[in-house]
Amino acid sequence: MKTLVLSANEPNTAQIASDILKNGGLVAIPTETVYGLAANGLDEMAVAEIFAVKGRPQDNPLILHLWGAEQIDQFCHHIPQTAYDLAARFWPGPLTMVLPAKDCVPKRTTGGLSTVAVRCPDHALTREIIRLAGVPLAAPSANLSGKPSTTTAQHVLDDHDGKIPLIVDGGNCRVGVESTIVDLTEERPRLLRPGGISPEALMEVLGDLVVDKAVTAQIDKDAVVKAPGMKYRHYAPAEPVVIVSGSREKAAAYIHRHYVPGDRVLCFEEELPLYAGCDPLSYGQEANVDTLSAGLFAALRELDDPSVHQVYARCPVGGGVAYAVQNRLKKAAAFHIVDAEVEE
Ligand code: TXA
Ligand code: MG
Repeated sequence: MKTLVLSANEPNTAQIASDILKNGGLVAIPTETVYGLAANGLDEMAVAEIFAVKGRPQDNPLILHLWGAEQIDQFCHHIPQTAYDLAARFWPGPLTMVLPAKDCVPKRTTGGLSTVAVRCPDHALTREIIRLAGVPLAAPSANLSGKPSTTTAQHVLDDHDGKIPLIVDGGNCRVGVESTIVDLTEERPRLLRPGGISPEALMEVLGDLVVDKAVTAQIDKDAVVKAPGMKYRHYAPAEPVVIVSGSREKAAAYIHRHYVPGDRVLCFEEELPLYAGCDPLSYGQEANVDTLSAGLFAALRELDDPSVHQVYARCPVGGGVAYAVQNRLKKAAAFHIVDAEVEE
């Protein structure tokens, strides 16, 4: 199959994309977070094709992408007022809500669960594609399963050239890490995945939030978890990653003591001069955490190279979107962190 790449700026792109989707085909779509690999979320055959192309475990459910909050009650029931409050505040935007699913949502989409995750992406063309298709789009991140997420059309082409009919090129994703996921099906709202909407911002609307243990620790692959995707080793380059925490000076001293040729250093732009000779790669500026979230996955993909032995990574501190960057880096490192303030 020839994979066509069409710019989001071409006048016919939305029409061509929605026609493929209506006919049960797959289209890679840009969103503000990462590129998604989309299909009609109500069409079991089309959804099965997403799992096949990604190599995704069948029990890992997909997010339904809607074009507005007015669609929530078509696919969900027992919707708490908080869901509408969150949608009013954060949609379109990088927030996904887990709610009880109506029967019209196929079990293939929900990975067999009785709940469904819904989100409205903040991308004008992608919302237009959803509107024209007239169906909600099931769309996981467009990477091959186990690879870092895709934040450019080229990343999607690298993973799926010849396997899907169309990639819509909307440029670099603005946020760069996947949406925040909050589960609203229990008594207390639960954060399943940090993302572009910070826990602090959620708290302003919800007044209460439990952080799921999958956010802060490595989960055994056989464990029963709320978001099945959290237990798989995601976002991970092929070689071991270790996060080196502590002050700039102490971290540099630690890395220089342990560095051997073939290792790489993933650091902030401000730190590049400290690592001359250590093959450093910057993923953004520490002083501007939005550049770190936007640049992280492209950097992890670049480091996903068998010639790299070991990656020493620097991680931002603090809340907001830095919390999501910490989560993705810790997952890439399988929660392997050394504190350069105390460790030799
Ligand atoms: O930003 C995003 O959310 C991107 C873009 C494309 O929208 N999508 C994305 O999808 O990250 P994916 O499939 O890579 O991650 C979805 C996560 C998985 O961890 C999955 O287990 C979880 O959402 N999930 C989906 N439905 C769920 C449900 N009903 N209950 C709990 N977790 C769910
Ligand atoms: Mg993913």
